[in-house]
Amino acid sequence: MIELLPKVELHCHIEGTFEPELMFSLAERNGIELPYPSVEALHEAYQFKRLQDFLDIYYQGMNVLQTEADFYDLTMAYLERIHKQNVRHTEIFFDPQGHTDRGVGFAVAVNGISNALADGESKYGLSSKLIMCFLRHLDQESAFQTLEQAKQFKHLIAGVGLDSSERDHPPEKFAAVYAAASEQGYLRVAHAGEEGPPAYIETAVDTLKVHRIDHGNSCLENPQLVQRLVERQMPLTVCPLSNTRLCVVDDMKNHPLKTMLDKGLKVTVNSDDPAYFGGYMNENYYAVKEALSLSVSAIGALAQNAIDASFADADRKSALTNELSSYMQSVSG
Ligand code: HPA
Ligand code: ZN
Repeated sequence: MIELLPKVELHCHIEGTFEPELMFSLAERNGIELPYPSVEALHEAYQFKRLQDFLDIYYQGMNVLQTEADFYDLTMAYLERIHKQNVRHTEIFFDPQGHTDRGVGFAVAVNGISNALADGESKYGLSSKLIMCFLRHLDQESAFQTLEQAKQFKHLIAGVGLDSSERDHPPEKFAAVYAAASEQGYLRVAHAGEEGPPAYIETAVDTLKVHRIDHGNSCLENPQLVQRLVERQMPLTVCPLSNTRLCVVDDMKNHPLKTMLDKGLKVTVNSDDPAYFGGYMNENYYAVKEALSLSVSAIGALAQNAIDASFADADRKSALTNELSSYMQSVSG
């Protein structure tokens, strides 16, 4: 039932959808030599013990992206794939500083990505939102510069997020830039509790005033925090294959998703960096359904949570809800 389930994705880094085949072809187009002899050799490098191992390779891969056409092709390849998986709405992240810091302009990235998102909507009826993430290993001053650069593209960017190395970079480091972003009308999310402690989830909620937490796994270490997140119905964008690939969870059978659902947390299923972690939305849903023996109604609840937690407007949410409920009726007979 996963293939035809109408799905909403809320946590996907567009630079993390860069498949090795496309990376090699764009590297050739741009006259860039990759530090790997072949697609296979690159694949083999995708063995990570922690988040930082992945980030080092992820930033290296990004170097290939040079032109607006590169960002367009990257985004369109992702949209074509998820359209085939019946993803009906997606909210993608991009890392402007990962590009501007190596001399590729903010406009190059945002225009390439946005043009593909617009074409994806007209071609496939696949709606979307774009969220720009601040890199948390950089300082707040750099995040402020990014916010400034975004001004003339405000109409293309729904919100701000926070990603990259979590340890030793607590959310409160970005309190002022989140306050400024909020003032300017951006919605807010932040990665917290992937490798970081539950206290980072608390400060993301209380100080950054986020609408969603990206990951959030470590909340389970603090029952009072779980209670608060349940009371507020704070959405958590959980990424199962990412968690096992980055050793946040040792085995899918021990993934906390079912526990989180049972506790009443508003959890959703997402792919994070699908080209690096072994799968897009369907593969993530399959992985948890199999490993945790999730019922059809649990799968339906996860899909509905993602609709509720999305930044789509009320009409779109209601259309997606209708589409999901017709499908759930058809499979529960
Ligand atoms: N965590 C933190 N930063 C990231 C990730 C992630 O999983 N993917 C891309 N940037
Ligand atoms: Zn992420």
